[in-house]
Amino acid sequence: MKRILMITAAMVMGLMSAPAMAVNPCNPCAMKKNVNPCNPCSMKQSANPCNPCGMKKPAAGQWGTPGNTAIRPHAFDNFQQAVDLGRRMWNDDKLGTSGLSCLSCHGDHALLNLDRNRNFPHFVKMVGDVVTLDQMINYCMLNPMKGKPFARDSKELTAMAAYYRAYRIQYLREHRHP
Ligand code: HEC
Repeated sequence: MKRILMITAAMVMGLMSAPAMAVNPCNPCAMKKNVNPCNPCSMKQSANPCNPCGMKKPAAGQWGTPGNTAIRPHAFDNFQQAVDLGRRMWNDDKLGTSGLSCLSCHGDHALLNLDRNRNFPHFVKMVGDVVTLDQMINYCMLNPMKGKPFARDSKELTAMAAYYRAYRIQYLREHRHP
């Protein structure tokens, strides 16, 4: 009887300590010894694995290597650099194979429906679907431009989207949108 009681007591104690054992060792934010490594104030000599600001920019060619969470090698230092590349691309009649540039059709803010001042994703009649800005850029690259779509994480797609934003800001300024 005494033995059974001891075993039961050991089992209860085991159960009580179970939550501590349930800590996921793969989670870098899991608390140890009451020190939360996710709290930047608790940082000591070692870098805080939960602070994305502690990450370093990858060198060219390192993109996609295990443990590297950057989407591509560093491309732009600021928004204006992306806009400048995008402006050249929107004006380029060799971007596709139709001999048209984006601004052949969208010059003077035409056909961009900017008066509706909507964010993406939204329904675009020509596509007959709800699309993100990136998808819309690639749709126009494939169809009226008869070109190739931009890769999802490419600096070119970022530049195209950056120019769209700058172009739209210019429209809203000129038209004093409510
Ligand atoms: C032959 C003319 C033509 C060319 C060239 C063209 N587009 Fe378009 N684009 C259109 C038309 C037409 C629409 C759809 C308007 C609608 O359905 O309301 C459109 C729609 C768009 C929209 C979405 C407008 C909305 O409603 O939000 C974006 C963004 C866009 N185009 C970007 C581009 C880009 C970037 C290029 C160059 C890679 C390009 N277009 C080239 C004709 C063109």
